[in-house]
Amino acid sequence: MTEGPESQVSESQIAVHWREEEYYYPPDKFIAQANAADPSIYDRFGEEHFPDCFKEYADLLSWDAPWHTTLDTSNPPFWKWFVGGRLNASYNCVDRHAAASPDKTAIIFVPELESDARVEISYAELLRQVNEFAAVLRDTVGLKTGDRVTLHMPMVPELPVTMLACARLGVIRSQVFGGFSGTACGHRIADSGSHVLITMDGYYRGGNLSDHKVKADEAVAAARAEGQEVEKVLVWRRHAGQYASQTPMVEGRDVFVDELLAGHQGATVEPVSMPAEAPLFLMYTSGTTGRPKGCQHSTGGYMSYVAGTSKYYQDIHPDDVYWCMADIGWITGHSYIVYGPLALGTTTVIYEGVPNYPDGGRPWRIAEELGVNIFHTSPTAIRMLRKVGPEEPRKYNYHFKHMTTVGEPIEPEVWRWYHSEVGKGEAAIVDTWWQTENGGFLGSTLPALQPMKPGSCGPGVLGIYPVIYDEDGHDVPAGSGKAGNICIRNPWPGIFQTIWGQPERFVDTYYRKYNTDPDSTDWHDWPYFAGDGAVQAADGYFRILGRVDDVINVAGHRLGTKEIESAALTVSEVAEAAAVPVIDDIRGRAVEIYVSLKPGFEPGQEMEPKVTKAIETEIGKIARPKNVWIVPDMPKTRSGKIMRRVIASISNFADVGDVTTLANPEIVDSIRHHVQSMKVANDDVPRDLTEAEFEEIKRFGAE
Ligand code: WTA
Repeated sequence: MTEGPESQVSESQIAVHWREEEYYYPPDKFIAQANAADPSIYDRFGEEHFPDCFKEYADLLSWDAPWHTTLDTSNPPFWKWFVGGRLNASYNCVDRHAAASPDKTAIIFVPELESDARVEISYAELLRQVNEFAAVLRDTVGLKTGDRVTLHMPMVPELPVTMLACARLGVIRSQVFGGFSGTACGHRIADSGSHVLITMDGYYRGGNLSDHKVKADEAVAAARAEGQEVEKVLVWRRHAGQYASQTPMVEGRDVFVDELLAGHQGATVEPVSMPAEAPLFLMYTSGTTGRPKGCQHSTGGYMSYVAGTSKYYQDIHPDDVYWCMADIGWITGHSYIVYGPLALGTTTVIYEGVPNYPDGGRPWRIAEELGVNIFHTSPTAIRMLRKVGPEEPRKYNYHFKHMTTVGEPIEPEVWRWYHSEVGKGEAAIVDTWWQTENGGFLGSTLPALQPMKPGSCGPGVLGIYPVIYDEDGHDVPAGSGKAGNICIRNPWPGIFQTIWGQPERFVDTYYRKYNTDPDSTDWHDWPYFAGDGAVQAADGYFRILGRVDDVINVAGHRLGTKEIESAALTVSEVAEAAAVPVIDDIRGRAVEIYVSLKPGFEPGQEMEPKVTKAIETEIGKIARPKNVWIVPDMPKTRSGKIMRRVIASISNFADVGDVTTLANPEIVDSIRHHVQSMKVANDDVPRDLTEAEFEEIKRFGAE
């Protein structure tokens, strides 16, 4: 793999054949109450009304000052939305609802242990908590508008409180997924230039109270190694007054938040009126090179886009009880647990733990007890729940009007189980395709107006004009049966503003590939390259095939192969490492890693756990490889590049193709023999690949 523009991706011009799935229609009961049930919405968002159509989204918010320019394209592709407008995200998510309906429940927190009582936080109470914590951040910690702060917090209500307190002050925060390791968090602290880390002592997962604070010390050390000093670590306590961690607090650096809050009871902090263009947060995601990308999201554009899509695509009404089972450490949780639902003044559920704890009926018990009527999750969670309890949903008396699947392609049979068993045939389903970079949905059906089709996300959402291009920039027409690179022709308010500190990489990765004129200030010349392969059926619906770059989507979480390989290379004996995806029935894809050792080292039994440990330490358990294969050498081209597609084929029992041009073709058979015989012995042979999966594996990491 070469360094350089990430948009130099592999050929994805493949023909994909599959059975066309049948349409499913939303129930009349759903249509009768839907926010978007009148087809005139298509006209309002028609391309001739672009970009002003997005006023309809922005009008869902309260603005301190109106914007004068809806879309400023003067410095492409750094688009500016709602220029001149001012607003505060925390005011929009909290204050205005606390004023209108103070007792309404904003957040229901469900602890993982069923014996622990749930916590209901009203909008008035949320306002109090956000104000008090904002006072701590401003007056005790000294944070100011524009400062960056890193959050490494689990799924607890203190997380949205922290996010909203930062937003109140105009402090830019970066929430790192709680399951990431301390080291991974440290890299992100350094990249964002944060002097403050906000964390929690521990949280429940799988029935155990984990020690999370230990990761803060690792994170501070990792950031320091990159030259970034963390001056303060604020530690929320899972149970105020008790410390869940074995790790000592560091004098002068670490402080308990509950102790700080005691000095700010009843404090109020005026929300800072922010320009629409001010960054609201950074969300790190993986790309082709090792360095994570801090996607910078705006205040006005982002908030408008999540509010609008929450209203029309999630069909959120203020009286709904809405539960998104994603983690707030990922973009889905940001947009569709916190900002979207709260901007619309609804009740959002936050569940601390894993979906199958203590058993596969847990989500359905929660739904029944809380009266959840909108449910949002990922294919991985659906596959897992289907496996552990195919009949479980029937035992519970809940009724979803609406359900979402997001994060990875969903197999039509899994979709059908979701529809008939989880949804009891009563729910409209949206399969929403989008990315960390996008702020909100890009592809989905409008739930009351467009029929569902299992395995397809649907057409572009309102105001979004997707197109499939081949490698040369020609349109791949709908209904051609050909796949290509899905792009979005136009800017939209939720699009990220840049990669924090890496503006050239932003342009190279997302816009260079299909831009025909770098000097053009006409947005038509700057299609957004999403990095996904897709195919469009004759009806205009897109089926997303997966990444065309070296990103492995494990359970809906994007992992960069370079990141995983760099982690393996921290083991001193390892000479070379190559990470590849294997098809996994629950998680979609899993990671396998191949390593060769430096001369003089013998592959002993301790090597595999060492490599696994290194990956867990550097990235987190989420990236833990399914298998570590120690090989004498990697299959390489004559110019010395590792042929990832060859080893990916071996791992997936797919045809390796022509290897005669390799520098060392003989190694292929010896690796295949070793790996595949071990997999047969361990009952770890993947099922037969579909044609699309086969194509994905065949082109993985290809030049
Ligand atoms: C994949 C998650 C198929 C896709 C919101 C994308 C999907 C990547 C879908 C972004 C879907 C997301 N169907 N594939 N409905 N949704 N993806 O940044 O490959 O964590 O590029 O954002 O997930 O993952 P990210």
